[in-house]
Amino acid sequence: MVTPGPPEVPEGLDLAALEEVACEVARAAGRLVVEDRPDDLDVSSKSTRTDVVTEMDQRSQELILAELARRRPDDAVMGEEEGGLSGTSAVTWVVDPIDGTVNYLYGIAHYAVSVAAVVGDPAVPGGWRSVAGAVFEPVSDELFHAHLGGGARLAAGGGVRTLRVIGPTDLGLSLVATGFGYDAAVRARQANALVEVITAVRDVRRQGSAALDLCDVAAGRLDAYYETGLNAWDRAAGQLVATEAGAVLGGRVDDTPDADLTWAAAPGVAAPFADLVRRVTAEHVTRRP
Ligand code: IPD
Repeated sequence: MVTPGPPEVPEGLDLAALEEVACEVARAAGRLVVEDRPDDLDVSSKSTRTDVVTEMDQRSQELILAELARRRPDDAVMGEEEGGLSGTSAVTWVVDPIDGTVNYLYGIAHYAVSVAAVVGDPAVPGGWRSVAGAVFEPVSDELFHAHLGGGARLAAGGGVRTLRVIGPTDLGLSLVATGFGYDAAVRARQANALVEVITAVRDVRRQGSAALDLCDVAAGRLDAYYETGLNAWDRAAGQLVATEAGAVLGGRVDDTPDADLTWAAAPGVAAPFADLVRRVTAEHVTRRP
């Protein structure tokens, strides 16, 4: 399939202002999912019985939709859960109301709200690009944020610091994260691929939130990350944070992460890491954006 190149950023689009909106909305939704979590959380399943959605995923998305409609009434919104908004501007917000839903369900404090502004059509493979975004981890109160060309920052503990990836130069000494889909047959392929990865690196983590994995590469808490079969909302904000921090990112064929494969790595290990994950996941082809 021929995919279009990433779209141009329209002239005059205020990317810093979009970043600010992403931060405010991600913070508001993150506080909601922590503060309003009921003791008897209502849970149902989606694509498979292990792919869960909680009432708080839906409420978080409703809050995000309402906040974006108020602040950016002309923009479209595409979210992981039911409902979205159509728009007339060049911007679509791609949002994951809780990335790491299974962690949230189990009370594991590693999940995030991910809010990204993209240009182009996020439903078209290769047809969109993130221009601003925020990933908020509400339990640790860490906010990762970035806009295209503006660098990446982490706001935490009352301060803000610029993120700059340095990292190792030896893949064998690299700490790598990955994730798994919700379909058993897909997982079997992902597990087979992992056997080859885990024997080539320092160690592997499965943390449960793709958005935070990408931000952890930006923050130097991981040296590299890869996953097959991600949706646009899992990665739209995190991949911008990682890129702006100086990580090298790519997908199946070039430097654009895609649904087949998303990888991110410190510059010193990016080339061998890309070769490795492209080779071991070669048959993991999907058709999503
Ligand atoms: C999931 C997480 C997980 C990744 C899965 C995603 P969700 O998102 O990001 O780390 O491995 O592929 O679907 O379902 O928690 O929003």
